Amino acid sequence: MTASERIVYVDGHYCPESEGKVSIFDRGYLFADAIYEVTCVIGGKLVDFDGHMVRLQRSLKELDMPVPMSNEDLLAIHRKLVADNNVDEGLIYMQISRGNADRDFNFPSKDTPPVVVMFTQARPVLESPLAKRGLKVISLPDMRWGRRDIKTVQLLYPSMAKNAANEVGADDAWLVQDGFVTEASSANAYIVTTDGKIVTRSLSTDILHGITRAAVLRFAQEAGYVLEERSFTIAEALEAQEALITSATSFVTSVLSIDGQMIGDGKIGPVSSRLREIYIDKAVGARI
Ligand code: PDD
Repeated sequence: MTASERIVYVDGHYCPESEGKVSIFDRGYLFADAIYEVTCVIGGKLVDFDGHMVRLQRSLKELDMPVPMSNEDLLAIHRKLVADNNVDEGLIYMQISRGNADRDFNFPSKDTPPVVVMFTQARPVLESPLAKRGLKVISLPDMRWGRRDIKTVQLLYPSMAKNAANEVGADDAWLVQDGFVTEASSANAYIVTTDGKIVTRSLSTDILHGITRAAVLRFAQEAGYVLEERSFTIAEALEAQEALITSATSFVTSVLSIDGQMIGDGKIGPVSSRLREIYIDKAVGARI
């Protein structure tokens, strides 16, 4: 183990990252038969952990996967990894696969133990360079599977989309289905109309039900913003006053351009800034 190695959690054990190994028969590896959560860490504490646990339980249920352990035990592992790795700011990645079984399209027997893996990534969140600068995005067709409401590790297309964006000097992609924006490669997407309404696609199997989305919409409503949960097009986004994304690791981050065309004045807008401030105040303020 080198001094820079993290301590990770793999299937019941804590170990240095170079020793963290899963089986070649892990269903997550062979079939992307695994779900995950990413929880933000600020000041060594977890942001909206309960929200992530609610979605985790839902993902497990939708895929008929066994619950590996109680939320209290999962919390204890999160806390130990944050402490052992001295994470001040960053995230914890948690993955639960259906476990190890010889390759077979049929699910293995119900008593196959799920495999839980967790690791930390230390990185700036509150003062992240992208949040300070704002994002350039491109639009791409949404070619993911039809159950995007389940947070599975089936992330090849989002990864391809992000790379395609990076290749043309952009930061991310907004995905478009039947002419309407679904979401970003790993975040929910919003526009602010010229009359100040916050618009984001409504919940369905087409998008991930973002934990940050739920919190931001709640806080925005409390702050008096008018919300519209409906689909919007790239053309409407280009006419909007502002555009933004939300996720556990980006909080609220402004989008400055789409496909090379500026939104509004091409600067981080007041609604994005205010929503970020409110989110940091309330959600980060309530971390555990
Ligand atoms: N991604 N939509 C997609 C497709 C996502 O992958 C994510 C999160 C979100 C936002 O969800 P939340 O607010 O609960 O983070 C929306 C995480 C951060 C990731 O994959 O790293």
